[in-house]
Order: sequence, then structure tokens, then C-alpha cells
Amino acid sequence: MQDEIKIPRHIAFIMDGNGRWAKKRMLPRKLGHREGVKALRRMVDECEKAGIEMVSFYAFSTENWTRPQEEIDALFKMVGEFAEKNLSEYVRRGFRIMFMGDITKLPADTVAALKKILDQAKDNKGMIVNIALNYGGRDEILRAVNRILDSGVREIDMQTLSDCMYTGGLPDPDVIVRSSGEKRLSNFMLWQAAYAELVFVDDLWPDFDSAIFEKILREYSQRDRRYGNVRRIN
Ligand code: FPP
Repeated sequence: MQDEIKIPRHIAFIMDGNGRWAKKRMLPRKLGHREGVKALRRMVDECEKAGIEMVSFYAFSTENWTRPQEEIDALFKMVGEFAEKNLSEYVRRGFRIMFMGDITKLPADTVAALKKILDQAKDNKGMIVNIALNYGGRDEILRAVNRILDSGVREIDMQTLSDCMYTGGLPDPDVIVRSSGEKRLSNFMLWQAAYAELVFVDDLWPDFDSAIFEKILREYSQRDRRYGNVRRIN
């Protein structure tokens, strides 16, 4: 008998291994990122098909600024093109679009392209596509605390802090997936990851396809989520 497949409300991806994918083929790293964008698009389609409510992608971290300038420029050029071609298609498909991180520090033309998308998507009600750009989990927590302090509050409770995260009011990730065999969170969604199932996949990010997606859902479905309790909850 086929085991029941559970669909997470929110799945998050740490997209790792673009550089290694390119190196294996003796191609420049940016071609690895280009293939990485295609994998991201495949995962968005899979999430929509599966009826997932929210999907997050770690595209650029607060630490990625230390990469060679040429690679940073290539990445933001891709983000701009992705906004114009793919995100505008997602807007037409009714997806809600959000960016997590301080996008004001991105190149001006990238910021303009992203703001245009946010404006176009503002009334959408469909699946949430959340892209982390210039994002760091510790930075997010500090920003939230400072926002609360600025409001004059002297005692912070869980709900207030949660509400002040970029994801305030949205579900925490049920599952965080990292590609390329690395087994760490690398400053991704530190607050929201509290009860997330972690799935580490050996395949490199550009190789992610429907078969890998299905394998992830199977692994997630077999996990026993107890949230500190002794009973099985789902
Ligand atoms: C990690 O692979 C990947 C990144 C730092 C960038 C992820 C970006 C994309 C998939 C494309 C741009 C995104 C959008 C939204 C258009 P790595 O370079 O660290 O790979 P390596 O560890 O093999 O070197």
C-alpha cells in the first residue's frame, strides 16, 4: 500500500550547489546560477501542483556580498530578468509575491523591478512565493527587536517578535530543504525554523526536478512531528 503523502503548508529551499554544478561541467559559475533559476521555476510549478500555500527560496544572503563582484553583478542581473519574465508571469497566475531581507541595498534597477512586481501582485490571493534577498536570520531577529524597541514596548513576547519578522502572520516553514549535501541552515529563517523538519538532499540545486520534489514530500510525510509532545500529531 502506498504511504499517505502529507503536503506541507510552507516549504523552504536553501538552493546550494550551483557553483559545483557548473564546475563539474567546466562552465562559469554564473551558468550554474542560470540553471539554478530554472530549478527554482520547476519547484514553484511543483509546489503549485501540490497545493502548497507558501514556498520560500534563499537566493542571496547577507554574507553573499563577499563573493566576487562579477558573480554578484551576474546574480542581480538574473534577479532583474527573473522579475520581468517569471515573476510577472507568477503575478498573472495569481501568486502572492514577497521578498524577505533588506532589498533597499540591492542595485537600484533591481529594486525598481522588484517594487513593480510587489505593486502588481498586491491584490493576489494565491500561493505565496517568498524570495530571500540580502537576507540573514540574525539580521532579521535584530531588526524585529529594534522595531519593537522603537515602538516603546519594554517587554517582548513570542507573538510580538514573530509578528515583526518578515514572515509576520504567515506560517512557519514545515520543512526546510537544502541541496548539495551540506547540512546546515546558514543563517536561514533561524526564528521560523524552530519546528521545521530538515531535509538534506545530495543532488545539486540545478538538478532539482519533479522526482526529487516527490522524494522530499515522501521523506517529510514519514517524519513524526511531535512539537515537544510525546504523541504523534500528524
Ligand atoms: C548557492 O550555490 C546559490 C546561491 C548563493 C545563489 C542562489 C541563486 C539562484 C538560484 C539564482 C538567482 C535567484 C533568483 C531568484 C533569480 P553556490 O554558488 O554557493 O554553489 P557552490 O556551493 O557549489 O559553489
